[in-house]
Amino acid sequence: MLVLGLETSCDETAAALVEQTADASRPWRMRSNVVASQVDIHREWGGVVPELASRQHVRDICGVVERALADGGATWQDVDALAVTQGPGLVGSLLVGVSFAKSAAWALKKPLVAVHHLAGHIESIWLEHGRIPLPAIVLVVSGGHTSLYLVPEEGRYQLLGRTRDDAAGEAYDKVAKLIGLGYPGGPILDRLAGDGNDMAINFPGTRLTSPDRNAPERDARFDFSFSGLKTSVLRHVRQRQAALGAETLPPREMADLAASFQRRVVDTLIERAFAAAHWHGAKAIGIAGGVSANSRLRRDALAKAARSDIPVFIPSLALSTDNAAMIAAAGIRLLDAGRLAPADLNAAASLPL
Ligand code: KG4
Ligand code: ZN
Repeated sequence: MLVLGLETSCDETAAALVEQTADASRPWRMRSNVVASQVDIHREWGGVVPELASRQHVRDICGVVERALADGGATWQDVDALAVTQGPGLVGSLLVGVSFAKSAAWALKKPLVAVHHLAGHIESIWLEHGRIPLPAIVLVVSGGHTSLYLVPEEGRYQLLGRTRDDAAGEAYDKVAKLIGLGYPGGPILDRLAGDGNDMAINFPGTRLTSPDRNAPERDARFDFSFSGLKTSVLRHVRQRQAALGAETLPPREMADLAASFQRRVVDTLIERAFAAAHWHGAKAIGIAGGVSANSRLRRDALAKAARSDIPVFIPSLALSTDNAAMIAAAGIRLLDAGRLAPADLNAAASLPL
């Protein structure tokens, strides 16, 4: 079975072909993975402008899909089913993918499945590595989400914890903006941190003990909070600006700040993922989402895995940030379960997983 995946939830227009194989340990094979990034458009505004994003998706989607078919050596006739991101995301952006997918599925008389964006990120681990030991803990760290899931069996995701405020990627983007670096901040801060001393500044960590008011029944232990850290960075920058009598900090200080901030974020993510894994007796940890592209997170998580008895699985860089191959993969699970999308499928900006 060959599935065409489509992803337009934010500022990346993506299409990909993934096929189901006969290999039980590696049931999915990626045939193509095309992403048209809009980052150059949004950079000028310091963040994603929803209206510009949806207009650009309209311009790009046909070309991106044609390219995904050509790269995968396939034609429309070879496609057995379509999978599209239904949400969560920017509604105007999501609508472009959903409308395209519905039209194509109807014209081709092929089945369509509606995929949750975070299910896509989670399944990117299986797409990259094949079957991993279960139960597993999966940490999804992106620009919009920071959540821990227990995966007791393939295709089942049980929420254990999430951020109460900013997502980790959002914290990266906001801190980068604060110190006058470009957009998106994650990769820029990651690079800058490589030249800094990560022990230069001791930013405070946050440990949550009080229950989440929105979900009091959930255990608070595996929740995250990054807005306090962001405020600490702001306070530090203001103090240094006042002391130096200058708007911009010297490059050395910027690098130290980036490294110290990154240490705190990465340590928190890894500590909580391993704590959840131990608590639930997990046999593996997966890390997915845009922030899983972070060089320190990858290095430290794999180093900790090597010292412990729990292996860590992270997708390749191309599958870490938003892409459509992960949507096609998550779509195959839905197809296998017979969970087809209705003909009146609509985009859902805040779709629950
Ligand atoms: O998963 P993703 O591509 O889109 C969302 O679903 O949000 O994640 C984008 C986020 C952005 O906040 C970006 O700054 C962050 O991932 N990111 C990184 C790195 N690369 C991307 N954060 C830290 N280090 C990186 N190398
Ligand atoms: Zn994402």
